[in-house]
Amino acid sequence: MSDVKAAITAVGAYVPEDVLTNKMLEDMVDTNDEWITARTGIKERRILKNPGKGSSFLGIKACENLFSKTDTKASEIDLVIFATATPDMPVASSAAYLATEIGAVNAFSFDLQTACSSFLYGMSVASSYIESKKYKNVLLVGADKMSSIIDYEDRSTCIIFGDGGGAVLFQPNQDGYGLQDEILKTDGIGRQFLKIDAGGSILPASEETVKNKQHYVFQDGKTVFKFAVSNMADVSERIMTKNNLTAKDVDWLVAHQANKRIIDATYKRMNLDENKVLMNIQRYGNTTSATLPLLLSDYEKQLKKGDNIIFAAFGGGFSWGSVYLKWAYNS
Ligand code: UT7
Repeated sequence: MSDVKAAITAVGAYVPEDVLTNKMLEDMVDTNDEWITARTGIKERRILKNPGKGSSFLGIKACENLFSKTDTKASEIDLVIFATATPDMPVASSAAYLATEIGAVNAFSFDLQTACSSFLYGMSVASSYIESKKYKNVLLVGADKMSSIIDYEDRSTCIIFGDGGGAVLFQPNQDGYGLQDEILKTDGIGRQFLKIDAGGSILPASEETVKNKQHYVFQDGKTVFKFAVSNMADVSERIMTKNNLTAKDVDWLVAHQANKRIIDATYKRMNLDENKVLMNIQRYGNTTSATLPLLLSDYEKQLKKGDNIIFAAFGGGFSWGSVYLKWAYNS
């Protein structure tokens, strides 16, 4: 084990101004506020409407917010990891563009895609670079413009997703704060249940794929729900056992905001009190790669140095996991 741990030392976030409420969705598809609230916990989400702007815009704004709160300068960043399932465009790295735009001129950068688990996986990658002592300042950005891949005539998906971005700075810590442990899992069985059929190398874009609406997210919600509930709760419980943590030792659960019922099942399996569960799904919906940093940003003032935090996520692939981290600062 390295004597250096990777600690989060700053957080930033951004959500677009435009709000899409459950009431507004009632005019778009056959749904209602009561159903959405009871089944998902979501009341509203944010939508990026600025023409010509993609996920990098959300990430850049989140980084600007982060740099307004830290002494570290963009030019001191060694590596930028951009966790996103909705890159600005295929092939051209969104991370490269983002890094240049924020002034991280001395950094290299890359995109990381593991659907809704992208940010959680990014935490593992960012930390490994720091623990290996290869790099000192690693910026992990999670942002998704989900509205760019959602069919607003499909009530099974358009009620769930929203746009947003978040960023955290990882730096070396020799006092034991930072990432302690992780359990990361994937299972390719999930590919058929949560996907976009066209636009990839199997089925390139064509007139037909557009006509058939195959560039939008398809989700077999019921199946994904079942896997998400059991697997997210499972790894969260396992990481506690593995690290000899009782419910008393855990200060916060920071769980992917996909469905309030999944988060509830997870904290109950961990035997946690509900007041230890960070929750903002009601305001943003599922922002994919941005849910975890958006939670950290919203609750930053309540997080105290030394707090034990369990992160958990589940997403397409399937991919899922859990991270145990000791918080490193008081804000
Ligand atoms: O972040 C990546 C991972 N993703 C997830 O974790 C999402 C997991 N899945 C879910 O969150 C839930 O499955 C959904 C929120 C997507 C759906 O909730 P559900 O409780 O699984 O509903 P359901 O699909 O089983 O549908 C129940 C009923 C159906 O009607 P019938 O067949 O019982 O008459 C649906 O047609 O609700 C109907 N329904 C709706 N009604 C009103 C489905 N969508 C809607 C809607 N408004 N938007």
